[in-house]
Amino acid sequence: MEELLRAWDGDSTVVHHDADTDAWIFIAVHDRTLGRAAGGCRMRVYDEPSDGLRDALRLARGMTMKWAAIDFPFGGGKAVVAVPRPLEAAARERLLLRVGDLIALLGGAYATGEDMGTTPADMNVIARRTRNVFGRTPESGGTGDPGHWTALGVFAAVRAACERVFGTAELADRSVLVQGVGSVGRPLVRRLAQAGARVLVSDALPDRARTLAGKVDAEVVPPERAYDTACDVFAPCAVGGVLNARSVPQLECRVIAGSANNQLETEEAAAWLLERGILYAPDFVANAGGAIALAGLEVLDWSEEQVEARVLRIGETLGHILDDAERRAVSPVTEARRRAEQVLAAARKGTRDGAAVYSGRMGEETTGGS
Ligand code: PHE
Repeated sequence: MEELLRAWDGDSTVVHHDADTDAWIFIAVHDRTLGRAAGGCRMRVYDEPSDGLRDALRLARGMTMKWAAIDFPFGGGKAVVAVPRPLEAAARERLLLRVGDLIALLGGAYATGEDMGTTPADMNVIARRTRNVFGRTPESGGTGDPGHWTALGVFAAVRAACERVFGTAELADRSVLVQGVGSVGRPLVRRLAQAGARVLVSDALPDRARTLAGKVDAEVVPPERAYDTACDVFAPCAVGGVLNARSVPQLECRVIAGSANNQLETEEAAAWLLERGILYAPDFVANAGGAIALAGLEVLDWSEEQVEARVLRIGETLGHILDDAERRAVSPVTEARRRAEQVLAAARKGTRDGAAVYSGRMGEETTGGS
């Protein structure tokens, strides 16, 4: 953990060990140039606590890129709860309250929301201790799970990428393999099926894949065949690090566009994909729909129509990135990063409009919890 923290280029990290559950809570605030940090709270079992910290640090950096890529007034941050095993309800609730306490302690520097392994109900629990929470249930004043908005953005990215590679954004008869059918993969599969695509689904939980496949007439691919099954589009919508030295040589697709954060295990993977002629839509561009929706609906006072229009613009943004990447002969992710860095640099120099910060709903802690 010392090594990880030393090598990280971020702002601050909170590390907490929970004695009752033996869980670790990591909150990583990567960059606050554009505004207060915001990013989801992931809960899962890791082999080692340090794997949870590594995930938090990388995910927080990814959020910095995501907010900069859409030029929203937020910084990069993420929380990871590394549990030793799935917890029973009471222990889980206590742990989430602890997460809320730690976020409150940060005084508005970081706001959380859902991510892999957490739900709107979990956000309600965290909200008992802090106001800096996105995505509570509608009954509790939130806008619920942003997964379907993320899926809409990925859908737009898939279309834009297909337009490049196949000359048409039409998805009729295009084969798309969706890896992971959780809160983003599921609505994505439905949209793809509606658009006439031939959908293949794969999930670490085979039952989940089978149930969904039955409903939308998709084909089930076993998890170990997710990389070498031929398809036009591969959409990773589960864990990160799936594009690596082992998977890239196996891939039988022309396009990669999905919602998983940190799809590239290492930087080199982008170059290998370029060499193989596979178009990779940068994850932090393709998957920004959830962030757009949560910020738009819960802080910026946008209507659902405004959010939808902005999420669909992910397709156009990706199109520009792909154009410029080609012109500069770099990978799309290199180009997307260059653009994000430009937004950050302009903000640091103060040449950009003053970043609007949170509305009265979030920000400094005023209530001290309940
Ligand atoms: N966890 C999601 C993401 O990575 C959604 C989210 C965005 C949650 C912003 C909180 C804040 O984009």
